[in-house]
Amino acid sequence: MNLFDVYPLNNIEITKALGSNVWDAEGQKYLDLYGGHAVISIGHTHPHYVKRLTDQLNKVGFYSNSVLIPLQNELATKLGQVSGKVDYQLFLCNSGAEANENALKLASFYNGRKKVLSFKGAFHGRTSLAVSATDNPKIIAPVNETDNVVFLPHNDEEALKQAFDAYGNEICAVIIEGIQGVGGIKEASIEFLKLIRSLCDRYNAVYIADSVQCGYGRTGLFYSHDYAGVEADVYTMAKGMGNGFPVAGIIIAPKFKPWHGMLGTTFGGNHLACAAALAVLEIIEQDNLLANAAEVGDYLITELKRIEGIKEVRGRGLMIGIELPESLPNVKKDLLFKHKIFTGEAKPNVIRLLPALNLNIAHADQFLNEFKIALKG
Ligand SMILES: Cc1ncc(COP(=O)(O)O)c(C=O)c1O
Repeated sequence: MNLFDVYPLNNIEITKALGSNVWDAEGQKYLDLYGGHAVISIGHTHPHYVKRLTDQLNKVGFYSNSVLIPLQNELATKLGQVSGKVDYQLFLCNSGAEANENALKLASFYNGRKKVLSFKGAFHGRTSLAVSATDNPKIIAPVNETDNVVFLPHNDEEALKQAFDAYGNEICAVIIEGIQGVGGIKEASIEFLKLIRSLCDRYNAVYIADSVQCGYGRTGLFYSHDYAGVEADVYTMAKGMGNGFPVAGIIIAPKFKPWHGMLGTTFGGNHLACAAALAVLEIIEQDNLLANAAEVGDYLITELKRIEGIKEVRGRGLMIGIELPESLPNVKKDLLFKHKIFTGEAKPNVIRLLPALNLNIAHADQFLNEFKIALKG
């Protein structure tokens, strides 16, 4: 049997990983500023993480959501504490798309409505409604097409007000990334997020903060939406949550009341997933990784802004986009193959930095030096 060939691959096999470095099968070392797509939050093979998962695996790896799993309560308490959302409720699932799918479903159960407002450049996942709320017609199959999703220009306050004027009490939810990732590191403005909050309040619509990529401490606050100083009704999270172990979740404001069977999943919140997520939060807390992400991110952004030849540097903390001119189409490839540095990308020509939150200044300097050379071609 062959693999279903959907991923364009770099011809590199990673056989070892530690902290912010990975090694290929030939023993070549790389600096990892991609974090396997914003997933590696506390660094590869962190000893506490490895121990917590190993210990858990030796006790019980999985049992279903039909029994008590105190690790879930422990995780909810710790997540409330680290994120500051103490009075929210946690539902655990397995991926970012599933988190968004559940958030949208929950919103619709809550107010009985169907219309979802999403934004140009948004990416919310590949499952049915999440993909319909994603601004990429190429990945929306005919069966996913729906009139229930309306796309508005990003950060356009007038367009948002007009949409609420037009659809008013039909609007179920507004879903927005704090910083668009796939869309090229585009931050939702503070005024825009505040307006979403006030319009959702006025019309009883649900404000869903997609924090799958921009959340979990990446920008220096636990949820990047919180820079706006207003709270969302539901925050969705995934990537950094398990440092590579598939675990995702949504946190849900107190006004939403659960009933048995409302949401559910077989694997969500299993013992191993909870152990992984707890290990991540323990390290984030113990090593003060939010502050580190803010500090090292500020340093990188400041230094990058000093480099000539870049179109724009965007982002916050360790979620950084470097937009390059069309005349420099090969920088990402050169960084990987010549300079041995993994980075992410976004269309048309944006380099995305999504490293582990414990990236240090020496790593940042290594990147800046190599990047300056790569820019010269
Ligand atoms: C903002 C955002 N939401 C949702 C998703 C979907 O997450 P997953 O691939 O885990 O389904 C992604 C993935 O890149 C994302 O960046």
